[in-house]
Amino acid sequence: MLDAAEIGKRLLEFETRFGRGGVIDTYFAPGRVNLIGDHTDYNGGHVLPIAIQQGNYLLIRRSELPPARLYSASVDMEARILLTDIKKERDWADYVRGVYLYSRSVCADLPPFDALYFGDLPLDSGLSSSASIEIVTAIGLESLGCRLERSDAIKLSRRAENDFVGVFCGVMDQFTVAMAEKGKAVLLNCGNMEFRQIPFNIKDAVVVVGHTGVRRSLSATEYNTRRHECEEALRLLSAKVGPRQHLADVGISEFESARYSIPEKLAKRAEHVIYENSRVEEAARCLERGDTVTLGHLMNRSHESLRDLFDVTTEELDALQELSSSQPGVWGCRMTGAGFGGCVVALVKPDNVERYLRRMPSMYWKATHYDAEFIVTSPGAGAHKV
Ligand code: GLA
Repeated sequence: MLDAAEIGKRLLEFETRFGRGGVIDTYFAPGRVNLIGDHTDYNGGHVLPIAIQQGNYLLIRRSELPPARLYSASVDMEARILLTDIKKERDWADYVRGVYLYSRSVCADLPPFDALYFGDLPLDSGLSSSASIEIVTAIGLESLGCRLERSDAIKLSRRAENDFVGVFCGVMDQFTVAMAEKGKAVLLNCGNMEFRQIPFNIKDAVVVVGHTGVRRSLSATEYNTRRHECEEALRLLSAKVGPRQHLADVGISEFESARYSIPEKLAKRAEHVIYENSRVEEAARCLERGDTVTLGHLMNRSHESLRDLFDVTTEELDALQELSSSQPGVWGCRMTGAGFGGCVVALVKPDNVERYLRRMPSMYWKATHYDAEFIVTSPGAGAHKV
C-alpha cells in the first residue's frame, strides 16, 4: 500500500492533468499471490490465494463531455474511451474498456469521466495486475452512480479478460482481488464457487514473493493451449470413468485406472490438476492449524508438478525456486500464478528473511543473468474505497 503523501501527490497530478474542481474518489484493488493450486481454477478445482499489500489505485471523477480520459502512471500512457464506441486497442486500457463495456448490462448510461491509475504492483508479473485493474475499475463505477455487487464486479471483470482482451483465465484472480480479507487466505472451490476465508495461522514464516525479472503478458503464452489440453483430457477421461463436468472432479484412483488410455501429454496435464487439487485442500488444513512444515513440502511438490507435468515453468522460475528452497529457513517455495515467467512465492522463517534477501539477488543473477526483485508481504484486504 502507498502512504497518504504518495496518494496526495497523485491527486495533485490528477488536477494538473485533468483540471480542478469536482469530487475525486479513490479506490484500491490489491494484487494476489496464490499459495497453492495453480491451473486448477479453470478445471473446477480448489485454489488458496491471498491478496497482497501491493496493488492498483484509481482516482476517478465524473466529467461533462466525452471521451473518458485515462492515464496510467504505472506505464506512463494515456488512453481515451468513447463510451458509445468501445473497441479493443491492444493497450493497458483494454482491461478498463472491457469492464466499461460489459458494465452496461448492469448500469445503463454511464457519464464520461477522468481517471488516473497508479500503484506499487509490478505489471505482467503473475501477481494479477490485470485483475487488479479490472476490479478497481468495476468498484470505481460507484463513483459514476453504478454500484455493483461484488459478484457482478467479479463476473464483469472476468468477462472483460475472457471476451474482450481474449485471455481465457479462470476466476481465481478476480475473485481474490474482490473478496480477500486481511489476515486470511481464500479457499475457493472454483467448481461450485463455495469459499471459506482461512485464517493465516502461520506464525513462523513470512511470505516473500520473488520476481524472476522475466515479464510476460498471458496473451503471449501457452496459457490458452493448456486450457485446451485440459478440456481434451477431460473429454477422454470422461469416456473412460464416466461423465464429469470438470477435470478436478475426476478422483485420483479413477485417474490412475484410466491414465494409460489417454495420450501421455494429456495424462501429465490431468495428473497435475487432479493431484494439485488435493494438495490445496491439505494446504488449507495446514494453514488453519499452523503446520508450516507440511505446507512447505506441499508448495515444493506443487512446483515440481507445474514444472514436470504441466510444463509452465521456465529456466528462471526453476532456478529461483531451487535456490530459494535450499536457503536456510525456507519452508517451501513454488512458482505462483500462470507461470511462463513471473514470480515464485516462498515461506521464510522471520529470522532468516534478512539473510535471504541479502543473498538471493546475486545467487540468482549468477545462475540466470536476470535481476530478481523481492517483496515481503502478508495477507491483505480485498478491493475497497480509500
Ligand atoms: C492466471 C489466471 C488464473 C489462473 C492462474 C493459474 O493467473 O488468470 O485464472 O488460471 O493463471 O492458476
